[in-house]
Amino acid sequence: MQVIKRTVLKQKPEKGTALGFGKYFTDYMFTMKYTKEQGWHDAKIQPNEPVRFDLATTIFHYAQGIFEGMKAFLQPDGSIGVFRPDQNWARMNRSAERMCIPQFPVELAQEGLEQLLKLEKDWIPREAGTALYIRPTIVATRVMLGVHASTEYLFFIILSPVGSYYAHGLEPTRLLVEDFYVRSAIGGTGEAKCLGNYAASMKAGEEAEAKGFDQVLWLDAQEKKYVEEVGSMNMFFVIGNEVVTPELVGSILPGITRKSCIQVLKEKGYRVSERRISIGEVISACENGTLKEAFGTGTAAVISPVGLIRYKGTDYTIHGGKMGDITKLLYDTVTGIQNGTLSDPYGWVKKIEG
Ligand code: COI
Repeated sequence: MQVIKRTVLKQKPEKGTALGFGKYFTDYMFTMKYTKEQGWHDAKIQPNEPVRFDLATTIFHYAQGIFEGMKAFLQPDGSIGVFRPDQNWARMNRSAERMCIPQFPVELAQEGLEQLLKLEKDWIPREAGTALYIRPTIVATRVMLGVHASTEYLFFIILSPVGSYYAHGLEPTRLLVEDFYVRSAIGGTGEAKCLGNYAASMKAGEEAEAKGFDQVLWLDAQEKKYVEEVGSMNMFFVIGNEVVTPELVGSILPGITRKSCIQVLKEKGYRVSERRISIGEVISACENGTLKEAFGTGTAAVISPVGLIRYKGTDYTIHGGKMGDITKLLYDTVTGIQNGTLSDPYGWVKKIEG
């Protein structure tokens, strides 16, 4: 694969810098192009620098684009570990199918990622709670204003050293149950990781933040009755001795951390249900004391405890606003496997010798 080197490398964040999420970017990126005539071609690693686009490019007008989020961790043996990349590539090709984007060759994307990570190994942060976030993206690049699927695309992977997604770290999040705006309806694009889903969520997110909440908890579009997800996280509720997560009805992102947590919990003997759960059931469980814990899962958010939800003007505190035991168990297990301090019985970490 062609590698175009840069003459001057960027300044890396100082050790101990609060990295936040998605504020720093590494020196290089992986790119490949698609045209109808050539298919995917011109795969290369090149300096991560601004790219020029015609302002009539499809992506700017109709948001025909998809992305993924993965994380890489420095392993105790000195190798680079990437958490479940096969799952992300598979989901990305499912998102591509939904958005009329041609399927991309997974082996080439993985090879590009591995070469990029080897080159950027020094950017992997080492402090607890940090990782090198991987953002593969495909955007429609045909210059055309007609509303049709593009015939040209750019696939790129950029890397960003990150800390926790929420500014307050592992402090439990505060969620506002959204009962006006909707994220996605069945038949829409909710289960694809497409750009428009995130744009559509911003109005509600801004309004929630202005009221002091971290994010909104989305309900289903038809009845505004069933809990869906949080946008950057899938949701779990511990009610009595059952751990419940909304089933993947078509409008919810099939999270890879979600799937991993279900597997860990089942193997540890917990009763896990993927089923519809109404906001009424969550509120009743809060009121009668059976709601023990609530947490969200996601690549960026990892496992984030939820300490409070507001529904129709009433605040409900969960587990005294503190992280619960199951949330902690999952956080420790998943992050331990990711950073190699725990064994990886599931073979989730793909090791890259750098
Ligand atoms: C992720 O968890 O990787 C996401 O894509 C969620 C968010 C940062 C958009």
